[in-house]
Amino acid sequence: MTDEVQATAIAHVNVALVKYWGKRDAELVLPWTSSLSMTLDAFWTNTTVRFCAEAGEDEVMLDGVPITGVPRRRVTGFLDLVRSRAGRTGRAVVHSVNTVPTGAGLASSSSGFAALAMAASAACGLSLDATVLSRLARRGSGSASRSIFGGFALWHAGHDDESSYAEPVPSVGFDPVMVVALVDTAHKAVNSRDAMLRTVETSPLFRPWVDSAAADLKEMRDAVARADLDTVGEVAERNALGMHATMLAARPAVRYFAPATVAVLDAVLELRRAGVSAYATMDAGPNVKILCHRADAALVAEAVDAAAGCPTMVAGVGPAARLVVEL
Ligand code: DP6
Repeated sequence: MTDEVQATAIAHVNVALVKYWGKRDAELVLPWTSSLSMTLDAFWTNTTVRFCAEAGEDEVMLDGVPITGVPRRRVTGFLDLVRSRAGRTGRAVVHSVNTVPTGAGLASSSSGFAALAMAASAACGLSLDATVLSRLARRGSGSASRSIFGGFALWHAGHDDESSYAEPVPSVGFDPVMVVALVDTAHKAVNSRDAMLRTVETSPLFRPWVDSAAADLKEMRDAVARADLDTVGEVAERNALGMHATMLAARPAVRYFAPATVAVLDAVLELRRAGVSAYATMDAGPNVKILCHRADAALVAEAVDAAAGCPTMVAGVGPAARLVVEL
């Protein structure tokens, strides 16, 4: 093994159509429910990891700025996991660039830890297949397990480290877009990790939502396979609003809705009344992602602008994570 080795990987953000919300095992990041996502072409993370021979503190840069505190510890803890698997010591230098606002409910941790898993393992000389990479990425952030794959991905909740991983979902000819309504891209008040823990521990609605998730997943998987946008959208919207209901019932409540969020959700209902297939989903933040046919994207963006005056971005189905440079 040479003294200094590095690799660069790009991974795209994914947005869950059936959500992951709540861990059964925080250490292994095992979720309560299986989830299913669409990887987006418009947002990604590019991460370079260099392992050095000498000992010392890891250096972690995000968008050119060193990160500190809990986010830094999450990355260095993850690097420790990779180092121990590879039997490597020595410090790491990580440079990560996000095309997606970090921590604003735009799933930056999904692309972030998928890119980190791929770059760090390659830099360590580990040659991992997609399933093993998905399991590894999961340890950094649950949703990252799905960003190893392009298209649509199903993360099996599993019951241990081995059985909890994502895999691609067949989706021949299914090519919807998500119109992302950027209601607010500021860093969110409660991060998803803390919000999810509070929900599991205190929300009386959490267990009923978990119980309903298996049927949502089955319906979603079948609807994706037959490229049925209306069923995909209906299930995605009810599953996401149900997840937010569990948060609103947490004690104290976790509320990610802003006034403009509600205005956008109203606009989506209006669009449907007018015969447009448009369906909303939301993650741990106030932004709304609207699933629709590509041909309707401009119409949906106009409706969002009229209702809430916020900018939009259109994202199609994106590719799998990939290595860019390996030395
Ligand atoms: C609402 O994957 O960010 O986006 O595992 O604690 O890092 P950690 O959580 P994270 O949570 C994502 C939650 C969600 C829904 C989803 O992506 O399935």
